[in-house]
Amino acid sequence: MRRFIVAGNWKMNTTKDTGSQLAQALAAEVPKEKTAVEVLVCPPFPYLSTIGDIVNGSGVGFGAQNCYHESPGAFTGEISTEMLSDVGCRSVILGHSERRHILKETDADINLKVKKALDAGLQVVLCVGELQSERESEQTEAVLDTQMTGGLEGVNSAAFDKIVIAYEPVWAIGTGLTATPDQAEAAHQYLRNWLKDHYSAEIADSTRILYGGSVKPDNAKELLSQENVDGALVGGASLKAELFIPIIQAAV
Ligand code: G3P
Repeated sequence: MRRFIVAGNWKMNTTKDTGSQLAQALAAEVPKEKTAVEVLVCPPFPYLSTIGDIVNGSGVGFGAQNCYHESPGAFTGEISTEMLSDVGCRSVILGHSERRHILKETDADINLKVKKALDAGLQVVLCVGELQSERESEQTEAVLDTQMTGGLEGVNSAAFDKIVIAYEPVWAIGTGLTATPDQAEAAHQYLRNWLKDHYSAEIADSTRILYGGSVKPDNAKELLSQENVDGALVGGASLKAELFIPIIQAAV
């Protein structure tokens, strides 16, 4: 039985104060002993230490939204995997569509980061997902195949205890246009079969595949009830405790 994950991707939002208040509310709601669902928050870099200190000892883990693929060194402005571990991060989101389509990260760039993060002992949440135009032209599975192949190039089976996949249809991110449960389940089924074909049945069965894209309290239960949906990667709704907590509760 795969343990659900509900992760909050705060993106470039919150201040030290609002992020701290949010983390305090979540830590109070998810005490260590109440860990039926793995809860993770991914604050912006400047607040990682502050948020980490607040959630430490609770059932809420914390991670980062990116990392550099080399370290240490003269890479002005970049953040190393060692720095993330140093402040207590245990996970890192990689390949998010905003980094692919806004920051122009390629599958090869993402793959270097995946391997560096895994080498550093971090849990990797690898994001994949198609554009509206790719879905409309029935290229969804081809896009997912390309992104999985590129992102996981050279990653062996032993690493999969530290890999989570997040299916985030780009057209559903921040738009309020959530994928239907059937659309989500179909994509997750494809990804699970992809893992079986490229790795093993055991890895396919054990790897968590999260859905991301306008997850809200009113649609979480139905999405999370799909057989191949193992949790949610939440953006906007993760920024308010009164929205994120009901999504966590929907996963229990
Ligand atoms: O990484 C999660 C994010 O892309 C989803 O954003 O605002 O649609 O929940 P949102």
